Amino acid sequence: MTTHAPTRPTDATAEVSTDDGIAATIAPERSGWIPGTNRIAFGGDYNPEQWDRSVWLEDIALMKDAGVSLVSVGIFSWALLEPREGEYDFSFLDEVMDLLHDAGVSVDLGTPTAAPPAWFWKAHPEARPVTRDGLTLWHGSRGMASPSSSAYRTAATRIADALAAHYAGHPALVLWHVHNEYGAPVSECYSDASSGAFRRWLQSRYSTLDALNAAWGTAFWGQRYGEWDEIDAPRTSASVVNPAHRLDFARYTSNALLECFIAERDAIKRHTPHLPVTTNFMSSNCPSIDYWRWSREVDIVANDYYLVAERADNHVLLALDADLTRSFAGGRPWILMEHSTGAVNWQPRNIAKRPGELARNSLVSVARGADAVLFFQFRASRSGAEKFHSAMLPHGGTATRIWREVEALGVTLGGITDVMGGTVPARVAILWDIESFWAQDLEWRPSVDLGHRERVVAFYTELWRRDVAVDFAHPHDDLSAYDVVLAPASYLLDVASAANLRGFVEGGGRLVASYFSGIVDEHDSVPDGPYPGGLREVLGLRIDEFLPLHAGERPTLDDGSTGSVWSDDVVLDGAQAVATFRDGPAAGRAGVTRNAYGKGSAWYVSTALDADALGGLLERVLEEAGVPSRPAHAVAGLERVERRTADTVFVFLANHGDADVTVDDVSGVDAMTGEAVSGLVVPGAGVRVVRTPIAS
Ligand code: GAL
Repeated sequence: MTTHAPTRPTDATAEVSTDDGIAATIAPERSGWIPGTNRIAFGGDYNPEQWDRSVWLEDIALMKDAGVSLVSVGIFSWALLEPREGEYDFSFLDEVMDLLHDAGVSVDLGTPTAAPPAWFWKAHPEARPVTRDGLTLWHGSRGMASPSSSAYRTAATRIADALAAHYAGHPALVLWHVHNEYGAPVSECYSDASSGAFRRWLQSRYSTLDALNAAWGTAFWGQRYGEWDEIDAPRTSASVVNPAHRLDFARYTSNALLECFIAERDAIKRHTPHLPVTTNFMSSNCPSIDYWRWSREVDIVANDYYLVAERADNHVLLALDADLTRSFAGGRPWILMEHSTGAVNWQPRNIAKRPGELARNSLVSVARGADAVLFFQFRASRSGAEKFHSAMLPHGGTATRIWREVEALGVTLGGITDVMGGTVPARVAILWDIESFWAQDLEWRPSVDLGHRERVVAFYTELWRRDVAVDFAHPHDDLSAYDVVLAPASYLLDVASAANLRGFVEGGGRLVASYFSGIVDEHDSVPDGPYPGGLREVLGLRIDEFLPLHAGERPTLDDGSTGSVWSDDVVLDGAQAVATFRDGPAAGRAGVTRNAYGKGSAWYVSTALDADALGGLLERVLEEAGVPSRPAHAVAGLERVERRTADTVFVFLANHGDADVTVDDVSGVDAMTGEAVSGLVVPGAGVRVVRTPIAS
């Protein structure tokens, strides 16, 4: 089996691109894992400022009972820690940190910069973000400072610096948690100050207005700019704003937020260069951040994941998110920084997790590379916006099912310490490029039914159903460690990406591209010649016209499959038709094609094939590439994931259905009972972990 050695530049020596306005940032000294950790870290956000000291003592005793080893504190404590500008009072946090340390619980210390205090907003009303429609967002909640506000950056860096200076030698402190979920709940700010910062970013990206005018295609609709100060943030206009302008603003925003992170990180590193610094990502769910870029700047990748309660496939989305997070981490272990023990409180219907689900979600995350499992939050709030959110310790206290499951999970995680550092070898990669997603999601695309996320999930689900391990990759990455690369929604592909994919296939790889891939370059412009631009040669075809389908239209293909959403007028130019439309607007044209190219092959899927047909096609490609897969199981079936250390394969078996499932082809030692097994039953809603030694 080929193992994937990450080749993305994620190290201290990483080459930092020069076109993003942060070229001069210092290369971080990457720390390894959380220091002093000798088991899978277990715990959650802890917000003790909500209670008095007697509750802290009870909490800490309960943490010990449950095996909690790491808590995130201080994330929203700015107003307490700096009650007036420049005046600090660390007394409550000092006491909490000391008590935690005495109990052997380590601290992931938050910088509280997602919730500036009321005095800050009074002094700096200009730091409030302005929406695209011109609405100013007021304080009274959290997460709402404009990333381009210099007053905010100064205040945030100052409190981070003060905290780091104060706690530099504290024995409980093992990890820094900068801010909270950058990009949520708002990321873009369209204030005048943001327009100015955006202009400066554009000047460093394009140097001249001629270059910008050419890149944005401003000749169309008379949008040519003659002076830099004529350019604003792309506010709501009468009709569609130039998409290249919007795309650059999305890039600018991700970078502006990253500058905020870097400023805090560097302030912290001056005091505690030996401690890792992270921030909590929302890997597949943050619409505004380029996490490939951000991953180079954190010491350890950390992620928050909340189930979409009403989706029957929410455990598949969890697996996708975990694989994506591991990929952002370059294959290294990552921290599940937040998830929930039960219901959240911000979805339309906050459905409780079923018995056993808390452990399944946690262990599947470990199976997919997490070496830390934390929840939001330790004790449920009694007041405030999140009092109906589940917690490790619910309002009902220790007599609850949730608390019992939390305690049991602590024991289970303690029993699989030796999985730490293990890898998840994958021979298949799915391309993930947020710039492409940003571009595809802009207005006036050929069909409202086009959805980048929908296509990624469709492809991923069929691999998940067949227990195929998957990494995600950026289209610029060295793909040579993979046998199969899937491009389910690669609308934007620059010249380098297209050349990379051609090289991958030429060298023997298998590429599967979906419809609406390779359509525009990095400026959202269509390159010369027919679609699909840089993919024409490798796919061996051209597309003369897009033929989107009506809502609900389901043309059939000659292999019995059906399509939906999309079809094209495909003209073969070397490729062979694998399946041809029988009816619909593309009747008689190829719907699925295969092109032998170099030592490999490139496949094109011009429609949203029904799930079984898409799965069947992927099986065929995997077989051609020699990548093993299992017979497809139901979405509510048994998930099987393997994580490897030097001497052991850990087989994680998570049963998402209600009925018991017998697994015949696994043998080793049951990690929870210590008993030798040769075949086993995974109870309905249950999870088992089997250690299988690797023969030396
Ligand atoms: C996260 C956030 C936490 C908490 C949680 C509730 O997005 O970081 O502070 O609000 O959601 O689900």
